Amino acid sequence: MINIALLGCGRIGQMHAANINAHPRAKLAMVFDSHKPSADNLGKSLGVPVAASADSIFASDNVDAVLIASATETHADFIEQSVAAAKPVLCEKPIDLNLKRVNECAAAIAASPVPVQLGFNRRFDPGHRAARDAMRAGDIGQLHQVVITSRDPEIPPRSYLQSAGGLLRDMTIHDFDLARFMLDDEPTEVFAVAGALIDPALGAELNEIDTAMIILRTADGKQCHINNSRTAVYGYDQRIELLGTTGMVQSNNQKRHELKRYNRKATEISEAYQYFFIERYHEAFMAEVSAFVDCIENGTTPEVSFEDGRRALILAEAAYLSVAEKRMVQVSEIDS
Ligand SMILES: NC(=O)c1ccc[n+]([C@@H]2O[C@H](COP(=O)([O-])OP(=O)(O)OC[C@H]3O[C@@H](n4cnc5c(N)ncnc54)[C@H](O)[C@@H]3O)[C@@H](O)[C@H]2O)c1
Repeated sequence: MINIALLGCGRIGQMHAANINAHPRAKLAMVFDSHKPSADNLGKSLGVPVAASADSIFASDNVDAVLIASATETHADFIEQSVAAAKPVLCEKPIDLNLKRVNECAAAIAASPVPVQLGFNRRFDPGHRAARDAMRAGDIGQLHQVVITSRDPEIPPRSYLQSAGGLLRDMTIHDFDLARFMLDDEPTEVFAVAGALIDPALGAELNEIDTAMIILRTADGKQCHINNSRTAVYGYDQRIELLGTTGMVQSNNQKRHELKRYNRKATEISEAYQYFFIERYHEAFMAEVSAFVDCIENGTTPEVSFEDGRRALILAEAAYLSVAEKRMVQVSEIDS
């Protein structure tokens, strides 16, 4: 059993805690949150010890590895501390909102063999992964286009948006990672349009956007289109399409079940989509923990690396520059 300690007992921390506890090869060793009641509640509900500090987790012989699910601004420091303590890390996205800080963190951990896995859970979704496997196996011939639709069911509260770091760094970061995963290549050019269409006051108050369309292109001309909305009234919309010279594959939305209802007014009425990321990506989050445990047990390199987190942030910065300057941006302008 791999003893994993959890840093951060908020929304996603609670989910990770339950997933670790349910995992056959992992055990939740202890939890910590700077907001003590959050840690106490989670520790009590799962019957696991609450650490007195983050430092005591890094120092503990009872902790084999660390899962960082605390607020984004803590990630880079915790990654550095974990690596220095020789504890493998699974860290939620994004590494940090500031590329300079991410580069400093990269330099700080560069010489260490300690595994650092980034929390890009969507790569582990069975449908998304099957699409990529099919593409790699040649099922659709030569890949030309990737289309990623990623829309949230409802816009988060202002309090969240104030510190989330902006749509492209907080939400689209998953899609930038999926774009790289599906293209199996690095985008070299980025063009983006974005605005506050759902809540126009967001733009004025927080300089925030809630709706975006982004085009990416690789050096050999493969194209990717990402479209994001913070509110799709019909639910969490997560679709991926790969078009190649001999066919197309789609990874589609999921429902709780496939029952269809028929009446005088409508046919094929089906369940709503699974509500949000915790429900929709449950299998993916579990597989993400499995991949982390595999790395620790087998001494292998994580499939989703720190560098994947850094590259996704570079694409986010390129997209912001494109929005600001209304032009196609070369990724090399950011990653220089
Ligand atoms: N992979 C995904 O799909 C996904 C989904 C949601 C959130 N996230 C990421 O997970 C992280 C947490 O998001 P959330 O929605 O759970 O937020 P949240 O606000 O619900 O929880 C964050 C927790 O971190 C705690 N915290 C803050 N500073 C701390 C510190 N120094 N030490 C220990 N704990 C500290 C807070 O008290 C809070 O309980 C964010 O980085 C977010 O981007 C990823």
